[in-house]
Amino acid sequence: MPRLNADRRHPVAFTLNGRKVTGTAAPRMLLSDFLRHEVGATGTHVGCEHGVCGACTIEIDGMLARACLTLAVQVEGAAVRTVEGLAPAPGRLSILQAAFRRHHALQCGFCTAGILMSLEAFLKAVPDPGEAALRDLLSGHLCRCTGYTPIVRAALDAAREMADNKAEGATLADATATTSEDTAHA
Ligand code: FES
Ligand code: FES
Repeated sequence: MPRLNADRRHPVAFTLNGRKVTGTAAPRMLLSDFLRHEVGATGTHVGCEHGVCGACTIEIDGMLARACLTLAVQVEGAAVRTVEGLAPAPGRLSILQAAFRRHHALQCGFCTAGILMSLEAFLKAVPDPGEAALRDLLSGHLCRCTGYTPIVRAALDAAREMADNKAEGATLADATATTSEDTAHA
């Protein structure tokens, strides 16, 4: 990576949930701050700001990452995906989001965006996970409200529904039509 002048802001351009984003950032600006304060993408939450709580988990070029451990200038040219990109369409929820709603897998919702990002990637890689594997994954996320059990139930339910849809030949993006009120709670 080229050396950047610490006293200047530098151009940053990347795609966020498929849409081009441009802006400027000081070299030390965190991606989490850039997303929230420069782009207005406040779905990504910030808890610990040192990589422990998982609230800021996003995808960069298909890999999960902590936005609080990533500099904004590092995503130049990358494809960034955040919780705002999970819903298949406005007013609809993904299978996993809908399962969270059904199982009351969130209370304050502070941890939820990061957990959804991790679980979605995990369920793509491991379509039939056991409870132990899900709890292992969730050990990378802090939730102070739910006790984790509703989250595990929601993930297991979502995995079952994804498998059923796959068996019926449906795509993940086509599943689960819900209301715009549902989206507001995601
Ligand atoms: Fe990034 Fe806690 S805010 S891991
Ligand atoms: Fe409140 Fe997880 S729902 S921290």
